[in-house]
Amino acid sequence: MAAYEYQTHNYDAIVVGAGGSGLRATLGLAEQGLRTACVTKVFPTRSHTVAAQGGIAASLGNMGKDHWQWHLYDTVKGSDWLGDVDAMEYLSRNAPEAVYELEHYGVPFSRTEEGKIYQRPFGGHTTEFGEGPPVQRTCAAADRTGHAMLHTMYGQSLKEGAEFYIEYFAIDLLMSDDGQCRGVVAWCLEDGSIHVFNAKTTVLATGGYGRAYANATSAHTCTGDGGGMVARAGLPLQDMEFVQFHPTGVFGAGCLITEGARGEGGYLTNSEGERFMERYAPTYKDLASRDVVSRCMTMEIREGRGVGKNGDHIHLNLNHLPKEALNERLPGISETAKIFAGVDVTKDPIPVLPTVHYNMGGIPTNYWGEVLNPSKDDPDRVVPGLMAVGEAGCASVHGANRLGSNSLIDLVVFGRAASIKAGEIVDPAAPPAPVNAAQVDKALERFDSLRHAKGGVPTAELRDEMQNVMQNDAAVFRTEETLAKGMERMTEVAGKLGDLHVSDRSMIWNTDLMETLELTNLMPNALATIVSAEARKETRGAHAHEDHPDRDDENWRVHTLARVNGKVELEYRPVHVNPLLGHNEGGIDLDRIKPKTRVY
Ligand code: FUM
Repeated sequence: MAAYEYQTHNYDAIVVGAGGSGLRATLGLAEQGLRTACVTKVFPTRSHTVAAQGGIAASLGNMGKDHWQWHLYDTVKGSDWLGDVDAMEYLSRNAPEAVYELEHYGVPFSRTEEGKIYQRPFGGHTTEFGEGPPVQRTCAAADRTGHAMLHTMYGQSLKEGAEFYIEYFAIDLLMSDDGQCRGVVAWCLEDGSIHVFNAKTTVLATGGYGRAYANATSAHTCTGDGGGMVARAGLPLQDMEFVQFHPTGVFGAGCLITEGARGEGGYLTNSEGERFMERYAPTYKDLASRDVVSRCMTMEIREGRGVGKNGDHIHLNLNHLPKEALNERLPGISETAKIFAGVDVTKDPIPVLPTVHYNMGGIPTNYWGEVLNPSKDDPDRVVPGLMAVGEAGCASVHGANRLGSNSLIDLVVFGRAASIKAGEIVDPAAPPAPVNAAQVDKALERFDSLRHAKGGVPTAELRDEMQNVMQNDAAVFRTEETLAKGMERMTEVAGKLGDLHVSDRSMIWNTDLMETLELTNLMPNALATIVSAEARKETRGAHAHEDHPDRDDENWRVHTLARVNGKVELEYRPVHVNPLLGHNEGGIDLDRIKPKTRVY
């Protein structure tokens, strides 16, 4: 191995990733006076949260009556009863405060006539515990909410003295011999230098792994880097079989058209011009939950009622909406439709197709963001020094299916929670722990072997193979046959990691090497997804299994844990079914959230 020199930096806390959850954690840590660094492979305001459009859910009640318990009920039902109820309660109860904090930090929310934060309807968000009409709960900054949040939180973090290491790629976690996390080893893309971030606590905020699929709304940077590092450290990934398809990706290009478009009155039609969602979800129609809408669209196409010359997509109609509303509330997607579909939304429908959008699964955590490494005796055993938030983590607040706009609120509520917990645990006066040199060497050996990889398969070719298997065999609908075939094919594809070919050996802005490191992160995420999906013999949320079409609470209301180390080993962990507050303390009545048939 080439000799690599490295610089060591000591911090109270480091955050890996600078999207919404990473920045909220960074800000919360720095505000408490902890010495905090944020290590990120992309410039903070270019993180994938910048692409979040429609908004952030919180029961502010600005546009009609709302209550955090209704939000909790909708989230439990949206999760198809797989989410952890304590985490879901923490989310819905803390959401209003988290949004007001953002407002006070300076997020430029759209406003009502009275000057309050504007809120729009979103799929699966209802009133009266699912018995009343849709609620306007999603707080929006036009259709550029994520963009507004990132800029505000980055500015605030700088103001609080957080330090940023921008365009630094985290290679691997540094774990002590007794299983504590002590930071990461990272590579500076700009000058090729290597850095050890020695930290008392490490927060992974690395986002999802949408790019394990060929067609995704996720940025090309969404490569599951946190999940990859965790898997290599021998820790499990949770509920990876649940991959969300957003109903309205632009057909072909895959870019997101916000659910806010349907929230503002848009609707889907098939080749007969029929508003088919009325048939499938008579109450909430186009505002049913995402998994439901994506499945209905797929069924329409399969039954020959798709639009276009090949009948392979669906229309999203906005042309009946007033031009002023489109300009004011949906300017971003009007532009996206023009550029990526050649459509003027004031005149023509947008061609759309369900597109991979979000990973419900990820690194298991409790609702404080502490990473879990469950054992037989303790399903909630914490990994000291390691936290995960945002799409990288699995609290599990979304269970088998996430509601739209519950992602942005998850980022800030749990980014904030992690910083509060770290503030309690970390002792700023304690000296830094010694760096485990053997662990640094191990990480750099892996880095070096990839840098000098001389096998027969270029990275881009293997990535294509992986993406095609995932796209075909772990899709909206799954069967015993597709999953078994997919598992076999993914095992074969993952086996080729040892035969990679990297052409560029340089250290400075070597995108060939960076994409190779990313592929080694995507692969364990993809493997865990298909193996976990093959094992789950039921239909729940985003996991629609045609050979097991019903939900099976007796056998499968459990979290899947996948340890990926060459092969995938599965274990299971109980779902937390109890809320934090008792009913007589102002909490939800348990009867309200008992499993039942999920209809919209
Ligand atoms: O449709 C959207 O604007 C996406 C929101 C979300 O995924 O939460």
